[in-house]
Amino acid sequence: MQLFDVYPINNITITKAKGSYVWDDQGEQYLDLYGGHAVISIGHTHPHWVKRIEEQLNKIAFYSNSIKIPLQVQLAEKLGKVSGKEDYQLFLCNSGAEANENALKLASFHTGRKKVVAFSKAFHGRTSLAVSVTDNKNYVAPVNETDNVIFLPFNDEKALEACFKKQGDEISSVIIEGIQGVGGINVAEVSFLKKIRSLCDQYGAVYIADSVQCGYGRSGKFFSHDFAGVNADIYSMAKGMGNGFPIGGIIIAPHIKPKHFQLGTTFGGNHLACAAALAVLEVMEEEKLLGNAVMVGKYLREELEKIDEIENVRGRGLMIGFDVPEEIKDLKKNLLINQKIFTGEAKPNVIRLLPSLALKKRDAEHFIEAVKEEIEKMKG
Ligand SMILES: Cc1ncc(COP(=O)(O)O)c(C=O)c1O
Repeated sequence: MQLFDVYPINNITITKAKGSYVWDDQGEQYLDLYGGHAVISIGHTHPHWVKRIEEQLNKIAFYSNSIKIPLQVQLAEKLGKVSGKEDYQLFLCNSGAEANENALKLASFHTGRKKVVAFSKAFHGRTSLAVSVTDNKNYVAPVNETDNVIFLPFNDEKALEACFKKQGDEISSVIIEGIQGVGGINVAEVSFLKKIRSLCDQYGAVYIADSVQCGYGRSGKFFSHDFAGVNADIYSMAKGMGNGFPIGGIIIAPHIKPKHFQLGTTFGGNHLACAAALAVLEVMEEEKLLGNAVMVGKYLREELEKIDEIENVRGRGLMIGFDVPEEIKDLKKNLLINQKIFTGEAKPNVIRLLPSLALKKRDAEHFIEAVKEEIEKMKG
C-alpha cells in the first residue's frame, strides 16, 4: 500500500528531538522555528512531559467517557487557572478542526440559528463545518458547500455592523482567529474584537475565538483574543495543548448550558491525553513560558525590522510573520538547506515563525545572523 499523497514534503527524516532542536537520520542538527506547525509549545520531548505520559501509560491509557476520569477535572481546573477563565466549562476532543466543529455546533444548538460569520483568509480546519467557514475554495468539497456562512473582510467594522443590521437575528455565531495563521499572520485589531463582542451581545450571537494556532500562550497572553480585554463565549484550542500529543478542546462560558448527548467523542479526554495536557500547563507555569514568548518574540521582531530586505514584520509573542520580496524569495528554502533552520510559510511570500515558547534568546540570535547571511548571499 502507498501513502495517499496529500502533502508536498521536504526530503528530511527527523528521528530525534529535544527542546528547540531536531536531528535527522544522518545525525544533522536543525533549529526548529516552525514547532511542527505551532504544535511544540514547551519544547520537544520535555522531560516532565515524557515522565507524565510514561507514568500514565503504565497505569491506564484509555477508557471511555462513560466513567469518571479525574484527570479531566484536574485539567479543567488547571486550564481555568492558567487561562484566567475559571468559570468556563471544558469539553475535550482530539484536534483543532474538531474543536471548531463542536464550537460552531454548540453555538447553533444554543441560539437555534443557522448562520455563521467568518472572515477573509480564515482557516478553521478541514472537517465539514470547519472547512465551510475556511476561506479557501480548494479545501471545500461540494458536499461542504452551504449558504449558512457569510464571509466578511477581516478587521472591517463597518461591514460587520452592516451584516448584523441586515440579518442579526439569524446569526448563530462569529468565528475569528485572534491572529490568522494559515492566512499569513494577520492580527485581529483590538477594536474589531470589541465590536464582535458588542454586536454578539446586542443580537444574541455567540463569539467563537479560534485559538487553535494563536492560543495556548503563543502570543504572550494565554489567548491572543485577550489583548482586546473582552471575553469570547467559546475558545477553541488544540496544537500547543498537548505539545505533540493529540488533544483539542473548547472552553465554554457559563451562560451556555450543557445538554446530554449534544456533544460527544470516543477518544476525547482520554487518560493519556489529559496527562500530556496537564504536563504542558505545569511546565508553562513553572518555566514562565508566556513571559519568555513576550521577551524572545520582541527581540525577534525588533531585529527583523532592522533588516532592510524584509518587509512588514508582524505578529505577537512567538507568532511572527514577515514578507519576503522577490529578490530574496528563496530565503525559507536556503535557511533550511544551508543553515539547517526550519521555518513555516504562508502563500505566496510570507515566512512564519512558530517556535517552542521556550525558545532561547541565543537561538533567536543565531536565527537573525543566519537570515542576514542568507540575504547577503542571495544579493551577491
Ligand atoms: C486557526 C486554526 N484552526 C483550526 C485548525 C485545524 O486544526 P487541526 O489540523 O488540528 O484540525 C488549524 C490548523 O492549522 C488552525 O491553524
